Amino acid sequence: METVFTYYGHATLGLRTAETKLIIDPWFSGNPWVKFSAKDVNADYLLVTHAHGDHLGDTVAIAKRTDATVISNFEICEWLGEQGIKTHSMHLGGDFQFPFGRVKLTTAMHGSSFPDKSYGGNPVGFLITTLHGKKIYLAGDTGLFGDMALIGREGLDLAIIPIGGNYTMGPDDALEAVKLLAPKQVVPIHYNTFEVIKQDPHTWAARVSAETNSEPVVLKPGETVVL
Ligand code: NI
Ligand code: MN
Repeated sequence: METVFTYYGHATLGLRTAETKLIIDPWFSGNPWVKFSAKDVNADYLLVTHAHGDHLGDTVAIAKRTDATVISNFEICEWLGEQGIKTHSMHLGGDFQFPFGRVKLTTAMHGSSFPDKSYGGNPVGFLITTLHGKKIYLAGDTGLFGDMALIGREGLDLAIIPIGGNYTMGPDDALEAVKLLAPKQVVPIHYNTFEVIKQDPHTWAARVSAETNSEPVVLKPGETVVL
């Protein structure tokens, strides 16, 4: 059994594990990295880190069309539930065994308002443990925080972290994050989509290689990491 991680672009990510298709932060419409429509996307579960438009994205449309279950914090699940969407609400520090693996909601230092300005609760990251024991940490939009060291103690196979700066960690803090998380592999995301988050991921990757034991993996949209 293998797990395939896909980078669609910005913070839109895919994970296929135990024959289950997960999409994390399913922003397709208006995402400049993505060349296909949200109508062509299939999912069993949608994981939403927070309510900002570049993460909530096409959650409502995809969930309605595919009948996917949304996993997110309580506030986002309430907002989606009012629109008739199937949800599994959780919150920070809580974990739950789903048929595809275990999901834990982790701290993220950020904001979380919906495009309609309503409150989206605390933003989250996700720690996913697959049925074959692979640990994948999706940081979500966040600044650097010291408790990443606790998440790192889990023994991460793959970490996906923002490097864009301005709204999240920039390259310097993201490098510190890699030192705390100590994942086998790390994929940088949330850069170059907008002018204020312009970064060179390859320069950053060279620093990760020089200063840590983690392997940086810079992905083009549509590229994958197989675990
Ligand atoms: Ni955000
Ligand atoms: Mn964002």
